[in-house]
Amino acid sequence: MGIQTLRRNISPILLTLGSLFFVAVFIYFFYTSPATQIGPEQPIPFSHAVHSGVKQIQCRFCHPYVDYSNHPGLPPVEKCLYCHKYIIANHPWIKKEHMYFNTNTPTPWVEINYVAEHVLFNHQRHIRSDIVCEQCHGRVETRHRLDKKIWRMGICYECHKAKGANLDCWLACHS
Ligand code: HEC
Ligand code: HEC
Ligand code: HEC
Ligand code: HEC
Repeated sequence: MGIQTLRRNISPILLTLGSLFFVAVFIYFFYTSPATQIGPEQPIPFSHAVHSGVKQIQCRFCHPYVDYSNHPGLPPVEKCLYCHKYIIANHPWIKKEHMYFNTNTPTPWVEINYVAEHVLFNHQRHIRSDIVCEQCHGRVETRHRLDKKIWRMGICYECHKAKGANLDCWLACHS
């Protein structure tokens, strides 16, 4: 191929390379955006979409204390091994769970919901008045990774106002 032919062909070549590049960028963002790439990374890429969505495991199986504790916490490793002693036991992420169990280390889950320290939040009152998890936490069962959420007073206030709940913040929410 002479230099003349190359010169004549250079713009279609660039155009092709350019389009390929844009397709690659599009695919990259399409597959990595929002559902998979948000929220802080967890020590084990636990997926609510797999467990609550596909496998239909009830929220309270893993979060039994939401109904009566001020600090319901996250499930201990024993809870995972209840199933994963048998299910995909050799998966590298499950082996990591076994390692936590064998070394008596609580799984270092990164907490993602924050309320200011001086604010009292208790699930019990809310769940008892028939507010479902989704209303506050969104559609958890569709997410591979959960979002970080900082609870500013406005979020509490808006709903309390709408539902006619206590708005006397100094008595109700602040200690
Ligand atoms: C009225 C809103 C609201 C509802 C309804 C609600 N939550 Fe929450 N949830 C919160 C807030 C606010 C926090 C952060 C509380 C904190 O850090 O003290 C939280 C924290 C949590 C945590 C983390 C607990 C911890 O100790 O770190 C879990 C797990 C949880 N919620 C599960 C649930 C489940 C399961 C349901 C339904 C049965 C539910 N929540 C319903 C508002 C709500
Ligand atoms: C009630 C049973 C059950 C419990 C409890 C359970 N899992 Fe699973 N888990 C499953 C099933 C079923 C699958 C799908 C297995 C497959 O794909 O063949 C799965 C898949 C996984 C996977 C594979 C990757 C993925 O997302 O598909 C990981 C990692 C995982 N679980 C972590 C955990 C952790 C961590 C806990 C504890 C917080 C836990 N599981 C608790 C049943 C359970
Ligand atoms: C198989 C166990 C399992 C089931 C079932 C499950 N969760 Fe979770 N949940 C976890 C684990 C493990 C974490 C910590 C890792 C993470 O944030 O993804 C967590 C974290 C959360 C958090 C964030 C807590 C925080 O502030 O750090 C919320 C909110 C939550 N789950 C709500 C729900 C709701 C609502 C359901 C039912 C739709 C549900 N979970 C079902 C195991 C489970
Ligand atoms: C989705 C709606 C909703 C959201 C969001 C919500 N609440 Fe509530 N809250 C209610 C309802 C409804 C009640 C009334 C329950 C009852 O009458 O027992 C209530 C009751 C309470 C109470 C008990 C009040 C009393 O009368 O003693 C406290 C404290 C409280 N909420 C704090 C909070 C805080 C703090 C937040 C934000 C982190 C928050 N709530 C977010 C709906 C909500």
